[in-house]
Amino acid sequence: MARPSLRSWLFVVVGPFLCVFGSIVFADVRHKGHSRSTVEPLPPAVTPVRGPSNLERVGLRMDTSGMGRTGLWGPPPTDPVSLPSITYSEDITRPSRLSGADLYRLDCQACHQADGGGSPPEINAIIDPVRATSAVVMLERMKKIGRPITAAFAQQLATASRKDLLGRLKNGGQKMPPFGHLTGKEVQALVAYLELLARVPGAEKRQLAVTEPVVRIGELLAKGTCHICHAATGRWPDPEELLQGAVPPLGSIATERSIVQVIRKVRYGAPVVMGRASVSSRGRMPVFNYLKDDEVASAYLYLLIYPPKRPE
Ligand code: HEC
Ligand code: HEC
Repeated sequence: MARPSLRSWLFVVVGPFLCVFGSIVFADVRHKGHSRSTVEPLPPAVTPVRGPSNLERVGLRMDTSGMGRTGLWGPPPTDPVSLPSITYSEDITRPSRLSGADLYRLDCQACHQADGGGSPPEINAIIDPVRATSAVVMLERMKKIGRPITAAFAQQLATASRKDLLGRLKNGGQKMPPFGHLTGKEVQALVAYLELLARVPGAEKRQLAVTEPVVRIGELLAKGTCHICHAATGRWPDPEELLQGAVPPLGSIATERSIVQVIRKVRYGAPVVMGRASVSSRGRMPVFNYLKDDEVASAYLYLLIYPPKRPE
């Protein structure tokens, strides 16, 4: 298949992007006028994806870990080709609003599942640790087990749990990657949603949204989801290496594949050629049907504009 050269892609993609930067500035000015419900973000410092995949970092492979698993596989290559229509183009270059639920989808769901249940014992559920950040919940919990505590002590416990939660987000865990790149507002919106997920009383009143430039959305998705399995840099694997479990590097995705091919692979699945005999196969990559075309397109633009790098 003929693929466009990197230069022509940069032309097509970066050109409009630069124009759009102007409109982001205008959009911000306009927002300040009349949109009070939106939390104004600090301009996030977008940085490239770096280093080994999260699986490589912790010495695991896709078949020995539940991280990045959605439970959905692409269509078998024998399926009649019914190509879904891909509609990324309309709004792609405009800044968009992300709710806490959106942030959760981009950054946490691939490991912790939509309901926060994770897949124990490897991936802990987030519900209990989040509930522990609420003084009201702690009071009730201790009363129920027959060890009532004072409101002040409940508050102390809740504050300590909140500190743990924020620390875990910033630094990651044993296997969990760090999310130190999230801004204060993003963390606020995300944590409010975690509380909603964990049914912390009053959480519905604290829900927030942040307005983000397109490359930031791409960065969040690439770092929170794609980088679980895909390393930043490396050589594109040949069919035999793919069969042995190699994963193509993020740094070559935007040059080896078109934006539509990438959206299709991510959202619906697409067969890949594997093994010395070059057999078409459904592959190992899960399907992420809960992502939107625009979000995957944003990740594509981000990978093109901020080429992934080796570790510092
Ligand atoms: C690549 C997979 C992965 C991603 C992505 C991920 N986590 Fe985790 N998370 C884990 C694993 C694995 C654990 C268990 C502890 C460990 O090994 O780090 C964990 C544990 C946790 C815990 C602690 C649970 C406990 O019992 O104390 C919380 C809270 C948590 N994650 C929240 C989040 C949030 C919020 C996000 C999204 C910003 C997120 N995680 C993204 C893999 C992930
Ligand atoms: C759970 C691991 C995992 C995650 C998470 C993951 N991938 Fe993949 N990806 C793979 C594997 C494995 C392959 C090799 C082909 C196959 O087995 O399907 C692959 C291949 C690809 C390919 C090449 C397909 C081709 O035509 O050769 C693209 C493009 C791709 N991934 C994009 C992404 C993007 C974008 C994300 C984030 C939204 C992502 N992947 C998240 C495992 C993953």
